[in-house]
Amino acid sequence: MQLPYYPGSKYKLLDVLLPRLLPLTEGAAMFVEPFVGSGAVTLAMMNRFPDLEYWLNDRDPTVACLWHAVRFHALELIKTIAAFHPSEESFYTYKAQLNAIEGVPATRQGRIEIGFKKLALHRMSHSGFGGGIRGGRNQKLITKIDARWGCRSTHSHRPSDPQSVSARPRGANHGV
Ligand SMILES: C[S@@+](CC[C@H](N)C(=O)[O-])C[C@H]1O[C@@H](n2cnc3c(N)ncnc32)[C@H](O)[C@@H]1O
Repeated sequence: MQLPYYPGSKYKLLDVLLPRLLPLTEGAAMFVEPFVGSGAVTLAMMNRFPDLEYWLNDRDPTVACLWHAVRFHALELIKTIAAFHPSEESFYTYKAQLNAIEGVPATRQGRIEIGFKKLALHRMSHSGFGGGIRGGRNQKLITKIDARWGCRSTHSHRPSDPQSVSARPRGANHGV
């Protein structure tokens, strides 16, 4: 499953990447992701190696807030997601707010809010980057702004390479 849609995500390359990464985990204690973005590779690794320690990095503070909220404030993030319905107004408001962000907010609530807005903006945008609004201005296109909001809009990835499905989840994920 992808959380934020991200241009350049390695999601579609997992079948290629995972078989090369899996052997490198032997004897490793930590997986470091310098450009986490959508977390495509990291989530796949966490799924297979929940006992590894994970270090996620991204220069974009809104991306950092999203993964921070997922890791440390999941319940509040879920509640915020459940209470939200996509709208044109929220798309443009969130976009302006996130563009103005210069750093990770100092408060817990601020981090959750920005993380949520990052996720919502990606899901409401056409490209997944917060560029154009999904459904177009005034929602004249067939695909509407909420097409990627809700459990029906997520999809699973089933790697075809046997190596990439050899290790199954063994428990809760570790730190970010
Ligand atoms: C294409 S996306 C991430 C790709 C990721 N592997 C995935 O599958 O989603 C690139 C990410 O790297 C981040 N980034 C770009 N340059 C960076 C840098 N110099 N240091 C840290 N993060 C950076 C961006 O903010 C963006 O979130």
